[in-house]
Amino acid sequence: PLDTTIPDPALIVLIGAAGSGKSTWASTWPSTQVLELDQFRAMVSDDAGDQTATVSAAAVLHSVLEARLARKRTTVIDATNTEAHVRAGLLDVARSYGVPAVAFLVSTPADVCVQRQASRSPARAVPADVVRRQHAEAAAAAPHLHDEGFAHVLCADRTHRLELLLRRVSG
Ligand code: GTP
Ligand code: MG
Repeated sequence: PLDTTIPDPALIVLIGAAGSGKSTWASTWPSTQVLELDQFRAMVSDDAGDQTATVSAAAVLHSVLEARLARKRTTVIDATNTEAHVRAGLLDVARSYGVPAVAFLVSTPADVCVQRQASRSPARAVPADVVRRQHAEAAAAAPHLHDEGFAHVLCADRTHRLELLLRRVSG
């Protein structure tokens, strides 16, 4: 049976390659609950695509995350999160505040993720080899997410989109 459990509060970690649709999914949550790494890159560097800003952006994202989890506020991390060490850092924060972590896999086919880069501005388009590497990392991680420490592992699909939207509409 499909696990569709999202406790409240929860730390929801979106996992998927560039172009997989993470931000589209993130928009089903209230915007104040979503921490989007691109936005933090823009905040520290004026350029959402500036990869040299990632370390500073992630540090600021983490401090907002800690402030929110200290208040037991449900928080969604909108970043690729395909690397195990990135997820481990997020899981550490969730554990230290006693908030369950949910992995939310956005597993759109790699070819689709790559095609979607074509319609982006050159500054925001992620190179095809990077997208394919992210996709492979996400697929390889999927079976291990429970063991990493995620209390629930969800896969993005139509049923979830409907549930999430209905949950939001019904408050
Ligand atoms: P990055 O921020 O680069 O990591 O990408 P992302 O995972 O946030 O993807 P995003 O949500 O920006 O979606 C990429 C493109 O795919 C956008 O143009 C979306 O409109 C489109 N898209 C997202 N989800 C769907 C879907 O379910 N169907 C279709 N047809 N397009 C979608
Ligand atoms: Mg996005």
